[in-house]
Amino acid sequence: MSAVAGKVCVVTGAGSGIGRALAVTLAARGGRLALSDVDEGGLAETAALVGSDVHTARLDVSDRDAVAAYADAVAAHFGVVHQIYNNAGIAHSNTVLDSEYAEYERVFGVNLWGVIHGTKAFLPHVIASGDGHVVNVSSLNAFLAQKEMSHYCTTKFAVRGFTESLRAEMQDAGRRVGVTVVHPGGIKTNIATAALEEARASGLEITPADEARQRHYNEKLLKMDPTRAAEIIVTGVEADKPRVLVGSDAKAIDLLVRLLPARYPAVFRRIERLQAR
Ligand SMILES: NC(=O)c1ccc[n+]([C@@H]2O[C@H](COP(=O)([O-])OP(=O)(O)OC[C@H]3O[C@@H](n4cnc5c(N)ncnc54)[C@H](O)[C@@H]3O)[C@@H](O)[C@H]2O)c1
Repeated sequence: MSAVAGKVCVVTGAGSGIGRALAVTLAARGGRLALSDVDEGGLAETAALVGSDVHTARLDVSDRDAVAAYADAVAAHFGVVHQIYNNAGIAHSNTVLDSEYAEYERVFGVNLWGVIHGTKAFLPHVIASGDGHVVNVSSLNAFLAQKEMSHYCTTKFAVRGFTESLRAEMQDAGRRVGVTVVHPGGIKTNIATAALEEARASGLEITPADEARQRHYNEKLLKMDPTRAAEIIVTGVEADKPRVLVGSDAKAIDLLVRLLPARYPAVFRRIERLQAR
């Protein structure tokens, strides 16, 4: 039911990383693409990679009205929309104690509201296609909570709940709409660097520990090639999997948390200390 060939596929956050790789993979499997991002330069580079028959638009997924207008524009352009990949996302690091509410609002706006906006705006079109799919990109941080990541973890736990509720509703109503939540582990993208740059630009104090954390992510944790991640995601969508774990790290942590639901934080801290050596 969810094969990509000939389908109109929408990808948010397509100007970099997993979104760009999703665009390339979907195009290679015969999808017709609508790509968006706040980063118009990155988006243009992605569009150049996937060929000429591509709809592109600057879109901030945290802007509800803009996402609604965009969904109508894409539907009008293609006449139908089959698949929405709510992929755009940002990372952020700070303690709960030191965080301003504005930090939560910014991360929630993109990672959670962005997913809800994209889902609600495109769902009527996806249903109308008669063979549609909603794909929401969460994270291994939907089951693993980490210190100094409460903004990100809150959104990624929530995207999981939102998406699993939607799946139950689509099944209960007998809709021909697949729903997949994606939990990537560490993927080699710009996400950690972008988070540090954004924090610096917004005037937050960047400590040597913050810089070391970003280096640690880039050098040790974000390992899988985004192209491989996109192949796993699209293959999971084509198989109509309800959840797709991307990478052995995501699979191991999923298992760890289920085996030791109360003790995993202590075990994980030990693993982190070993990795930092
Ligand atoms: N890289 C990883 O290890 C990893 C792990 C788990 C989950 N994820 C998730 O994968 C998704 C893609 O992240 P990535 O790793 O490719 O990061 P990335 O930084 O390489 O790409 C994210 C893209 O989203 C865009 N974006 C940011 N704010 C936006 C907004 N308001 N509206 C529209 N676009 C916006 C950025 O411009 C960028 O092009 C995110 O949801 C992220 O949380 C990534």
